[in-house]
Order: sequence, then C-alpha cells, then structure tokens
Amino acid sequence: MTVTNPTYVIRRAVAADEPAIQALVRSERLNPHHLYFRNFVVAVAGNDLIGACQIRRHRDGSRELGSVVVARPWRGRGLSVKLIDRLLADEPSVIHAITRKRHADHYARWGFEPVPSHAAPSAIRRNYRIGSCIGSLMAVLQRRRINWLTILRRPQRPSLAEETRAVA
Ligand SMILES: CC(C)(COP(=O)(O)OP(=O)(O)OC[C@H]1O[C@@H](n2cnc3c(N)ncnc32)[C@H](O)[C@@H]1OP(=O)(O)O)[C@@H](O)C(=O)NCCC(=O)NCCS
Repeated sequence: MTVTNPTYVIRRAVAADEPAIQALVRSERLNPHHLYFRNFVVAVAGNDLIGACQIRRHRDGSRELGSVVVARPWRGRGLSVKLIDRLLADEPSVIHAITRKRHADHYARWGFEPVPSHAAPSAIRRNYRIGSCIGSLMAVLQRRRINWLTILRRPQRPSLAEETRAVA
C-alpha cells in the first residue's frame, strides 16, 4: 500500500533511492551503517527524497526501527509518523527502537514500551551502548545536557494471515 498526499508519496524504497537515503541520514549524523534500500520506507516529493525510516535486520535475528529522518523544510507536519505507520504496517515481528528517553512516549502509539537493556537482544544492546557513549561524549565536548537513551520494544503482532484466519 502506498500512502499519498497532494504533495508527497510514501512508498517502499527502490535501489535508485539509496544514495539519497544515505545523504539524508548522514546529513543528520545518524548511524551511517546498514543503510540498505530494501529495509526502508521513503517519502518523495517530486524528485526529492524528503523522509525515510528503516527496520535494520541484525545478524542475531533482532529488528530495529531506526534512521527516522525528515528533511528540515518538511518537519512538524506529521510526516515521520506517517513513515513509521507505513513501515510497521507490514511488520508483525518483535521490533526494538533506541531513542532519547524524553521521546519514548511518542512511540507508545505503535505499542512500544521501555525495556531494560539486559532484556534486549545483543545487537540492540550494542547499538544502545555505542549511542550512549557517543551521545555522552558529544554532550561533554559541547557542554550541554546529556540526552539519555532508552530501549523500546514492540511485541510480536499477529500476521495479517493469522488475523484473517481468526476472523473466519
Ligand atoms: C525526529 C524527526 C524525524 C521528526 O520528524 P517530523 O516529521 O517533524 O515529526 P512529526 O511531525 O511526524 O512528529 C513530531 C513528533 O516527533 C517527535 N520528535 C521530535 N524529535 C524527535 C526525536 N529526535 N526522536 C524521536 N521523536 C522526535 C516529537 O516529540 C513529536 O511527537 P508528538 O507528535 O508525540 O508530539 C525530525 O525532526 C528529524 O529528522 N530529526 C533529525 C533526525 C533525528 O533526530 N531522528 C530521530 C532519531 S532516529
């Protein structure tokens, strides 16, 4: 399914989107690794890629919502919410996310809840530790408050096929 708006379209990414995805994600200094188009949903206005988010598939089998980014002129209009809605709509498996503590409530609408780091899969714990170290170091260097991170988890959902069977 593709969500449309008079000015932009939200859809699964295709190979040709990958350079623009990488440029947008890196322009905000988000994690620059694992930016493969197959994992992304994007928002496109004309020829411009204006938003993206992905589910990283880690080697330990865990999945992580990440790389949520919207181009500056398009912020504050609910675009990131629509991107995440679209991305999670196809995803019945357990999903983790790492976010600033003060933004954790924002993810409750998709069923995410905080979990202690020791309860998270190893790949998620590793990204959490790396993010926390880099974030704390930057805060000290820039003499500002530390933005503490938290790990969130959305439990497994019944797949569409299971829901259909349950209704039938
Ligand atoms: C965070 C970001 C994607 C929000 O995009 P947006 O389209 O303006 O967001 P929306 O209009 O859909 O919604 C705003 C919501 O985003 C939340 N938000 C703002 N900054 C956020 C952040 N850094 N992380 C998570 N959520 C954030 C706000 O709390 C607000 O939540 P509310 O609706 O519950 O009040 C955008 O500001 C951005 O690209 N920032 C730089 C990259 C970034 O920090 N990404 C998040 C970490 S992966």
